[in-house]
Parts: sequence; structure tokens; C-alpha cells
Amino acid sequence: MEHVTDLFKEAMGRLAAGVTVVTTEIDGRPWGVTVSACCSISMSPPLMLVSLFTSNASSVAIKEQQRFGVSLLTNDQTDVAKAGAKPGTPKFFEEFVDFDSFGKTHMVKDALAHVHCKVDQVVEAGDHTIFIGRVEHVSLGELKDPLLYFHREFGSFTTELEPKEPIVK
Ligand SMILES: Cc1cc2nc3c(=O)[nH]c(=O)nc-3n(C[C@H](O)[C@H](O)[C@H](O)COP(=O)(O)O)c2cc1C
Repeated sequence: MEHVTDLFKEAMGRLAAGVTVVTTEIDGRPWGVTVSACCSISMSPPLMLVSLFTSNASSVAIKEQQRFGVSLLTNDQTDVAKAGAKPGTPKFFEEFVDFDSFGKTHMVKDALAHVHCKVDQVVEAGDHTIFIGRVEHVSLGELKDPLLYFHREFGSFTTELEPKEPIVK
């Protein structure tokens, strides 16, 4: 019988997910890691979570700095997603980001949106650390098609619906 962990991995690989880059700083330089375990959890107050492998350099840095950014990628940013996902490689991100002095985190240039968070709670869960961030500032980019990840492949989203106006432009 296949091990439940393998079945679980396969099952979760079938949940199409948006792709983000979580930003932090290491040695005073911008650093970005590709993350799909990301969601909003409250609007009042505005809270979001990201779940990172505990031994990742980014998890250690976020625990120290108590701050992180989340850039939501567009479907023409596969190169950025791949750069933030290279195992065992430093993920210095100067070429992909700008610093937002108001939100105090690094944002991936031309991302769909970027959420600046201050750490509110840290929950250790198995081999991951869940960071719950208090949303302090949000930067919106151009509304484009999102980058998705499904069955270990990057792809995009298409809809037959009429495009809606954004809530805020
Ligand atoms: C689409 C995609 C989504 C990912 N989502 C997560 C995630 O939610 N949390 C996480 O810790 N790593 C996630 N990873 C893996 C990291 O991006 C990275 O590859 C991994 O942490 C290895 O980096 P390291 O060797 O520097 O530790 C994801 C990778 C890809 C390609």
C-alpha cells in the first residue's frame, strides 16, 4: 500500500494554487522564496498566513525580523518563481525586487499585488512554521492573469466570465 504521505503529496498537488514569493532580508540583502501555502485568514483585523519549511533560511530570518512580504505572481513571472524555488541555493533577489519604504518589505517588481506583514503569531506545525502576519500595507500592481501551480507544473488561469472591475484600483 502506498504511504499516506505520498498519497497526501499527490492529492495536494492536484489543488491548483496561486504562486507567491515571500520576501525577507538575509545579511541585509533581499531574499525571496516561492510559496503556495499562503492565504488570507481574517479581514478585521487583516491577517494572512504563510507556511514555510522550518529549517529554511527564510523562516529563520522572518523569526528574527518579525516582518515579511508576499508578492502574488503573474503568469509571465515563472522565471521569478523558479529562482525562488531552487533547492539548496541562495535566494538573493536584488534583480527581481524593489524596496517599499512605506511597507518596509521588498516587493517583486510587476507583481499582481504585494502584501506587507508584521508577524502576529508563529505556530510550529510538523516540519513547517506557520507565520500569521498582520497586514500593514498593500501595494497593487496591474491586474493580469495569475501564475498557478498544478501537478508540479506552472500554468495559467482562463475564464469565460467577463472580467470584473477590481474592488480598488
Ligand atoms: C510552486 C511552489 C510552491 C512552493 N510552496 C512552498 C511553501 O508553501 N512552503 C515552503 O516552505 N516551500 C515551498 N516551496 C519550496 C520552496 O520554494 C523552496 O524550493 C524550498 O524551500 C527549498 O529551498 P532551500 O533549499 O533554500 O531550503 C514551493 C516551491 C514551488 C515550486
